[in-house]
Amino acid sequence: MNQKESFVIEGLAEERSLSGTVKVHGAKNAALKAMAASVLFAGPVELRNVPRNNDIETLSKILIRLGAKVAWQDDGALSIDTSAMSSTDIDAELAGSMRASVVLTGPLLARFGKVTFPAPGGCVIGARPIDLFLAGYEKMGATVTLDAGACVYRIESAKKLSGAEMFFNKVTVGGTETLMMTAVLASGKTVLKNCAMEPEIANVAEWLVSCGARIEGIGTPTMAIHGSGGALLQPRESYEAIPDRIEAGSFLILGALCASRLAIEGCRPDHLDAVIGVLRGSGAKIETAASRIVVEGSAGPEAYAAIADLRTHEYPGFPTDLQPVIVAYLTQASGESRIFETIYEGRFKYIEDLQKLGASITVMNPREISVKGATPLRAMAGDGDLTAHDIRAGFAVVMAALCGSGTFTVSNVHLIDRGYERLEQQLAALGASVQRIKAA
Ligand code: EPU
Repeated sequence: MNQKESFVIEGLAEERSLSGTVKVHGAKNAALKAMAASVLFAGPVELRNVPRNNDIETLSKILIRLGAKVAWQDDGALSIDTSAMSSTDIDAELAGSMRASVVLTGPLLARFGKVTFPAPGGCVIGARPIDLFLAGYEKMGATVTLDAGACVYRIESAKKLSGAEMFFNKVTVGGTETLMMTAVLASGKTVLKNCAMEPEIANVAEWLVSCGARIEGIGTPTMAIHGSGGALLQPRESYEAIPDRIEAGSFLILGALCASRLAIEGCRPDHLDAVIGVLRGSGAKIETAASRIVVEGSAGPEAYAAIADLRTHEYPGFPTDLQPVIVAYLTQASGESRIFETIYEGRFKYIEDLQKLGASITVMNPREISVKGATPLRAMAGDGDLTAHDIRAGFAVVMAALCGSGTFTVSNVHLIDRGYERLEQQLAALGASVQRIKAA
């Protein structure tokens, strides 16, 4: 991972001339959880269609430090063997760069009866809440201690964890997955209510079931898990990650804005109903088949209409991860759009970058913005320098640069690399001019 790389992007201005085909990778947010689930197994597991991005590499390193063997095979599968794993101390530095590492805590606790891990966001309690994970562990019989000096949580259970009933007072993807995995090795029945229903959760749950786990209600708000009482799962079947719906959705929005025609292959259009609906509502021409989406781009920005009220929502609603990308799109749509971010507070940091290119965006409050379009996006003198604030905001500013006029630089490319694999190559194959350079 090189923290000092930037993209240099030539804007397409009025051209909107990208075209071609994008092949979607396996879903990062499913594969990461399958990697965490490897701790539940008695022998080596084989994970297929795993994308090679930085988050996957970071979690591999965390698993290796815990004593697992992790290796890419010649056929592209990732093999993970946790049978000789002994440590339960999650590496603080690595975990600090990736919140998803918290998902490992449940499987480690369920298998070894203890785990320590850094408090997310340091010791600022409440900064990145994991209260629902901790409440679940306590209900299952574990004791949670925050070592304030070391900024680590220690979670222990002298006895096997026991099944419990848990209602999530906030819908949480990671919490649902983690407590589901934890319950697989507990004793007795766990009932999880108000679960997240993201397809990545079902993808991992179905694999666990194929290897002997007993999970009912997969893909619904209530799941019941009959624990094995500690018996580890047998790696009967290999895991295969579903296509990454956020990568597919990112390219779909990009295609509508910057391409004459873009085909997105190897995806699941049925996982993108909300996004396709919003784009069609704004005037985009989209055709879908079983595993393919084709979008015909517009002749010019005036072709698209604003979206009066767009709210991010848990699946199957409009994904928060595509909120920055659709906002970049809406700068090019005619009229006023209102976007309400219901999942995260403070996911609007990238707005400043769009504003300095000329976008007309008003932040109403930490969860709501108004976008007035269409405004041309331009690299003014010295203002072509943009920053990727996180994975998805990074994609959004790249897209804004692509449909703007002038030469733009996007720094912090390592954050884009967390979730997209060599994005510059994917874009170059569509005809874009995007160079990766070492930043000064
Ligand atoms: N939350 C709590 N307490 C908890 C857990 C979560 O208050 O104990 C809150 C969070 O602070 C947040 C909300 O609940 O406000 C939803 O968080 P959730 O737990 O659902 O998110 P996550 O599991 O941490 C995953 C994805 C994110 C995606 C969200 C929402 C992974 C690795 N990450 O995060 O993906 O935004 O679900 O869909 O699966 C990305 O890929 O760029 C990304 C950020």
